[in-house]
Amino acid sequence: MNKKKDILSLDEFGVEQISELLVQTDSFAEILKRDVKKVPALRGKTIINLFFEYSTRTKVSFELAAKRLSADLINFNASSSSLNKGESEIDTIQTINSMKNDLIIIRHGDSGYINYFAKNVAVPIVNAGDGKHEHPTQALLDLYTIYKNFESLTGLKIAIVGDILNSRVARSNIKLFGKMGMDVTVVAPSMLMPENFAGFNTKFANNIDEVIGDIDVLYMLRMQFERQERKYYPSLKEYNRFLSLNLARFNSMKKNSIVMHPGPVNRGIEISGEVMDIKISNTDKIKINTQVSNGVAVRMALLYYALS
Ligand code: CP
Repeated sequence: MNKKKDILSLDEFGVEQISELLVQTDSFAEILKRDVKKVPALRGKTIINLFFEYSTRTKVSFELAAKRLSADLINFNASSSSLNKGESEIDTIQTINSMKNDLIIIRHGDSGYINYFAKNVAVPIVNAGDGKHEHPTQALLDLYTIYKNFESLTGLKIAIVGDILNSRVARSNIKLFGKMGMDVTVVAPSMLMPENFAGFNTKFANNIDEVIGDIDVLYMLRMQFERQERKYYPSLKEYNRFLSLNLARFNSMKKNSIVMHPGPVNRGIEISGEVMDIKISNTDKIKINTQVSNGVAVRMALLYYALS
């Protein structure tokens, strides 16, 4: 029997396999440029989008990806489900799983919950973000965005700035970027860093000005207020002083460098309103909307991988 192809993190994917996924994404991105943006690759397959946490980008992007591949996609809405009548989450997932689908996409607020669940169902599970743990499809769309912007990934200097402690995006990206040969610096004050930081194998700075003039990619993280059990930073003023991207810092970046953010952005915290307002007109440098666009093609490649 074939092993089912879960996508829980990108740890189990080697460099060659990641490179193949990037090339596969290119072919799906070409399809998305056509008038008819649909291929029959997953016709007859049924996919469930099971989100227990809020989402705009990931949820819509998976729905579009499935539909572009001709799969049937069912959106589960936690707020209107029998969870509100007292059914547990594990029973809810098992109920959904009993309805003979081919793949389940899950977002959940608890770190590691999706791995536990994946062991107990027969169909492939795709992690759409679990707690502070992993966000593998975000990491791959971020890598793809960088790959499309530079001639080579090897040696590219990337700074990941902000709330490392609470960020699943940071965890998945640090591992993936390092695996692909990029030179990663983490920029955060010690109170926004996890205790096991040494295991990350990156460089470290605690002020954005230490790196901004030298890097190829500035990756700003969202402050994860929903995961912060207490106040981790003294004040917004202090955060802006040491860690935010404002117009002066933006203008001091190297030619051909780019700015990224997984979204949603807290305007005025990690990125100033002024910089956000030029992101539509300055797509060469600010890649936040490009990341979202690339997410559809990347998720098409991942769904195709998991179901083919
Ligand atoms: N980047 C990201 O996961 O965004 P959503 O929470 O909107 O899906």
